[in-house]
Amino acid sequence: MNILKSYWELGSVVADIVEHTLTLPEPKLVLPTGSTPLSLYKELVNRDLDWSTTTTFNLDEYVINPNNPHSYNSFMRKHLFDRVNIYPDNCHFPFRPTEAFEDKIAESLRIDLCILGIGSNGHIAFNEPGSSFDSVTRVVDLSEQTIQDNSRFFDSVDDVPKQAITMGLGTIMESKKVVLMANGEHKKDILDIAMNGEITKEVPASILQNHDNVKVYYCD
Ligand code: PGA
Repeated sequence: MNILKSYWELGSVVADIVEHTLTLPEPKLVLPTGSTPLSLYKELVNRDLDWSTTTTFNLDEYVINPNNPHSYNSFMRKHLFDRVNIYPDNCHFPFRPTEAFEDKIAESLRIDLCILGIGSNGHIAFNEPGSSFDSVTRVVDLSEQTIQDNSRFFDSVDDVPKQAITMGLGTIMESKKVVLMANGEHKKDILDIAMNGEITKEVPASILQNHDNVKVYYCD
């Protein structure tokens, strides 16, 4: 695990990895939402990189209208896609039928870089505890813990969507390289359990111990 001095350094170090990935021919990235990657997206926008040949897939999306300001589609447009020269047609969010989204990822061959956050219950994307390690993109019910955690982005907990479409753990594990970002003391214990504890479905992020190219970046 790489421990960084500040939230801004976390963004900058991961931005270096993204910058390198963008030099590949037709790079393919998997991107997260949430509060953790905000410093990364700010840094990437400031670097003025060429995104014109890049394809992105987001890890997850609420079952919600994509134009709703709380959708992850809106989040990504606001923080990254509307600020760089990526083609909107190259930005993909999990959709139904979920098999078609899986096919789209498969068509692009393997993902070069998958960037993840981690939930306080050890989820990655919306793969909640108990998710199968070989799961693929699917519609899921959000756990009570995740609904509570995400209520800070909404007026009330009742407004948080109860379902989402998420990339599966099996899909994530197919990526060539994985970067896990975590920020804050409240993530320290779950990160330690996920990276050093038993590999168990009850801690979905623990499956990353079986990936041969994972880097973890943490700052408190
Ligand atoms: P956060 O969410 O970045 O808002 O803490 C991470 C996650 O739930 O995956």
